Amino acid sequence: MLESVLVWIEKNKHSWLDDLKQWLSFPSVSADPAHNADVSAAADWAMYYLRGAGLNSTMIPTARHPCILAVTPDGACPADAPHVLLYGHYDVQPPEPLEKWISPPFTPTLREKKIFARGASDDKGQVFCHLAALTAWKQIAHEIPVRLTVLLEGEEEIGSINLREVISAHAGQLKSARTLIISDSSQFAPGVPAITCGLRGLVYYQVNLQGAREDLHSGVYGGAVANPANALAQMLGNLHDPRGRVSIPGFYDDVLEVEPELRRQWAALPFDEAQFAESLGVEKLYGEYGYTALERRWCRPTLDISGLTSGYQGPGAKTVLPSTASAKVSMRLVPNQNPQKIAAAFEEYFKQLRPPGVKLELHLLSASPAALTPIDSPAVAAAAQAVKEGFLADPVFVREGGSIPVVTWFKELLGIDSVLLGFGLPDDNLHAPNEKLDLDCFYGGIRTAAALYYLLGKRLK
Ligand code: BES
Ligand code: MN
Ligand code: MN
Repeated sequence: MLESVLVWIEKNKHSWLDDLKQWLSFPSVSADPAHNADVSAAADWAMYYLRGAGLNSTMIPTARHPCILAVTPDGACPADAPHVLLYGHYDVQPPEPLEKWISPPFTPTLREKKIFARGASDDKGQVFCHLAALTAWKQIAHEIPVRLTVLLEGEEEIGSINLREVISAHAGQLKSARTLIISDSSQFAPGVPAITCGLRGLVYYQVNLQGAREDLHSGVYGGAVANPANALAQMLGNLHDPRGRVSIPGFYDDVLEVEPELRRQWAALPFDEAQFAESLGVEKLYGEYGYTALERRWCRPTLDISGLTSGYQGPGAKTVLPSTASAKVSMRLVPNQNPQKIAAAFEEYFKQLRPPGVKLELHLLSASPAALTPIDSPAVAAAAQAVKEGFLADPVFVREGGSIPVVTWFKELLGIDSVLLGFGLPDDNLHAPNEKLDLDCFYGGIRTAAALYYLLGKRLK
């Protein structure tokens, strides 16, 4: 039966792409209230598409953007089929800066066997691989090999602010699931598919400094009052030591060190630091002393400034003493670090760095812990075999540096482990201009998803 499903998938190659293009055309930017209607239109589209695949698909409103919850109706899967969950997100990051896009972000465009659009890889394109696979199973076999619950979210890119509540409210319906499948990560390299077994957590702050009531003439007042831009630069400059380590007291206290055996396995992966640097347009990589670039991205915590604003930004010179300065500070956490504890340590240290004459405000915008997922469960074995079917290569086991808050919540609230099975590539330009998904990844992803449901149906019995 899987064979017939795969054949039908192949036959319909072009219509999968047309359908994905439709979904990608909705600017479902969750961060921007001006796009609220587009976000719900993208949700609608997914809800109806899942109905087309034979699922009972409903919209679950939240305080901000809706979730979609879809389940296989009785008779649409074998009676003894295991219960499997699929999670994904249909919201996307803001597309700015628009002038850097070769084709507009919400006009999906094919170039060099890649589809370019915001959301092509993160995450509509990857979710769609599953939607296509489910459609194919429904069409060819008239049933899906597992009892499936699909949960799609519209707030992942803004920290999944209402998802915990949705999970709690539907715990009764979700808790019998044996595994949670998430395709929202990447392969290790072209031709090297991966299963991701660890993600970093995130603590994200907005910090604001206020000096004088208004901007001041820098000649008339300079030297006599604190300048918030100077103060902020100095404070931020104190967050790292010269060897690239974060200076916040206690920051590394709980960090789980990676076993030497795992470090050896990672070192054997086909990864060239010089080539990586070149692909990014930097002369040399940079980071915490004593760790490889993969280690620094996968198992070491970081602190990075994501935004920095103060003073005159226009052309030419303006001699002014700005009255405010602000920064966005992102800390990526690793296993065993507690987001609340790290947030408190950051606040205490940062407050202490404040020079006299400026007021400091701290706003915690996001906090979620790192996640580790098993590498040896029956669900992972099924996923690995499905990858082989879809991409004709065995997956490597990796971690990634990004964050997906839902992984921790399903484990915490319902005891369910995730399988992170990503179809994208490391150069997909996530959150950046010219986001894309390679067609090879797209079709490989659809085949993998089709095989995955079949194999989960057999292996989770
Ligand atoms: N899909 C990404 C996370 C990701 C990227 C995992 C690459 C693995 C490989 C996700 O959409 C994302 O961007 N998450 C945010 C989370 C935040 C808003 C809480 C992140 O990591 O910045
Ligand atoms: Mn994502
Ligand atoms: Mn993202």
